Amino acid sequence: MLHLVTARLMRPRGAVVMATRIASISNGLNSKLSLKNAFDTAIQVLRQGNASDPEASARYLLCDVTNIGYRLSDFNKNLNTLYLTDEQVNKLNSHLQERIKHKPVQYIIGNWDFYGMTYLCEPPVLIPRPETEELVEYILNEHKPNLEKMKAARILDIGAGTGVIGITLLSQIKNAVCTSLDVSETAVKLANLNAKRLLNDSRYSCKHQSFLDHATDVKNHQQYDIIVSNPPYIPSYEVQGLDPEVRLYEDHGALDGGADGLNIIKDIINYAAALLSPAGTQEVWLEVSHHHPLVIDEYIKAQYPQYKCHIIQDLSKKLRFVRIELQATK
Ligand SMILES: C[S@@+](CC[C@H](N)C(=O)[O-])C[C@H]1O[C@@H](n2cnc3c(N)ncnc32)[C@H](O)[C@@H]1O
Repeated sequence: MLHLVTARLMRPRGAVVMATRIASISNGLNSKLSLKNAFDTAIQVLRQGNASDPEASARYLLCDVTNIGYRLSDFNKNLNTLYLTDEQVNKLNSHLQERIKHKPVQYIIGNWDFYGMTYLCEPPVLIPRPETEELVEYILNEHKPNLEKMKAARILDIGAGTGVIGITLLSQIKNAVCTSLDVSETAVKLANLNAKRLLNDSRYSCKHQSFLDHATDVKNHQQYDIIVSNPPYIPSYEVQGLDPEVRLYEDHGALDGGADGLNIIKDIINYAAALLSPAGTQEVWLEVSHHHPLVIDEYIKAQYPQYKCHIIQDLSKKLRFVRIELQATK
């Protein structure tokens, strides 16, 4: 499935206009509706309702109601041959109403793909983002062989959300185990459920615990071979300015990283040496705001001059990931 960008800056339209369009789509969609007609009408309704990504949204919502899968080729193949049932029309109308209220498509259809696997998504747990796939890819490229050589490589994933980082790493590194942490009870349940569905073994465990509680418990010291995280990193003052899809539906506890966005990031750096085993990679991998890598580099130079901070760009050439080596080898 292609990734749908949820974040868009849009001004919501008045409720009266939206209500009118919903009424007209209800009248407009009927049981003789082809997929093509339903698609065109749905795009029109979403445009009128000022929903972001109207075409992609309409397609995903129609794929969901018709159960044809999410491949573009399957969608196109069915455009003029598939007709919606009354039940499907009703479900589409209900989906469109939610989308006009800026509910992200992923929450409406209840799933999203990440690194080739389909994860259940549920509000307000953070929807997996494409940049995070890049983080996982970098970690695998750099460390898969090292971690595979270990008897049971131990991964610590801070801030599980849907579980995408830890579960994807385990799907690719067959001998690894992963402890994820999250302060959101909904996220913990969802991550463990996704792990059960996708891995079918007991190597993944998401705990309902804050990072600081985990890090300050000496039982966890030297227990990990690698630390990974996509922590909350948006500065608090920016949260209210986020796109409605994000601001209204996603957990602010997954977004807000404190005054400068660096609260958890600094905690992770400060406790990394205690948590990492001397026999492991001695590395921390983070996804951060594109404003952060140079600040993190300065922090490390000042506080931990023996560490080495590597800054990695994402596909859109933004400084996005940091890899911190506690015992620099290069
Ligand atoms: C940006 S989301 C990342 C979710 C997931 N890893 C992903 O990449 O899609 C950050 C997650 O960290 C969790 N979180 C926030 N503060 C935390 C803390 N102090 N300790 C552990 N988890 C925390 C949030 O509940 C949220 O699920």
